[in-house]
Amino acid sequence: MPKKKVKMGIAGIGAMGQGHVQAFTANPDSEIVAICDQSKEWIEHCKKEWGIRYAFTDWEDLVTCDAVEAVAVCLPTVFHDPVTIGALDNGKHVLCEKPMAMSTEKAQAMADAAQRSGKVLMISYNQRFGPDIQYMKKYRVSVSPARNSVRRQIELLRRLREQKR
Ligand SMILES: NC(=O)c1ccc[n+]([C@@H]2O[C@H](COP(=O)([O-])OP(=O)(O)OC[C@H]3O[C@@H](n4cnc5c(N)ncnc54)[C@H](O)[C@@H]3O)[C@@H](O)[C@H]2O)c1
Repeated sequence: MPKKKVKMGIAGIGAMGQGHVQAFTANPDSEIVAICDQSKEWIEHCKKEWGIRYAFTDWEDLVTCDAVEAVAVCLPTVFHDPVTIGALDNGKHVLCEKPMAMSTEKAQAMADAAQRSGKVLMISYNQRFGPDIQYMKKYRVSVSPARNSVRRQIELLRRLREQKR
């Protein structure tokens, strides 16, 4: 039986939002059902161009849309906490762009919302999954006595450069 695709809503179609659209379109496990941006003209253009079912100018419409299962929050950072909490409280999973929020209190409120909703909240620390960071992590774990020293970091960079040659 084919795997069910996660139905995505993307909030904010700026630089990062367009990257998320590309990534979720390319991923066989997801489909984009809704997008949102404050510019009516822009969002209508994107809807038509990408063949997306719903386009909103108000993020509250996105987080309450029944067709959406998970929201990617790609809005300016001041909106990360209200949109994330709104989405979680409406039963959606959330992938939120970094930085998480404007303050630790707001970040904590987001984490609390995830806990009470039982939904997944992930912050998009995407660099952690790149081969360079994975390599550095592995190397640090396996030979670590002076792992935080400047000398160790220089040594790591030298080894990485050698590997790339
Ligand atoms: N650009 C980067 O390289 C980068 C890298 C990592 C993280 N981020 C983070 O991603 C987030 C978005 O950054 P960006 O560079 O894509 O910004 P951007 O300005 O390019 O895009 C933001 C979009 O949100 C829309 N928007 C703003 N207020 C809105 C509202 N109230 N309702 C609906 N839409 C609204 C804007 O019209 C715009 O299209 C930020 O938190 C940023 O820190 C950006």
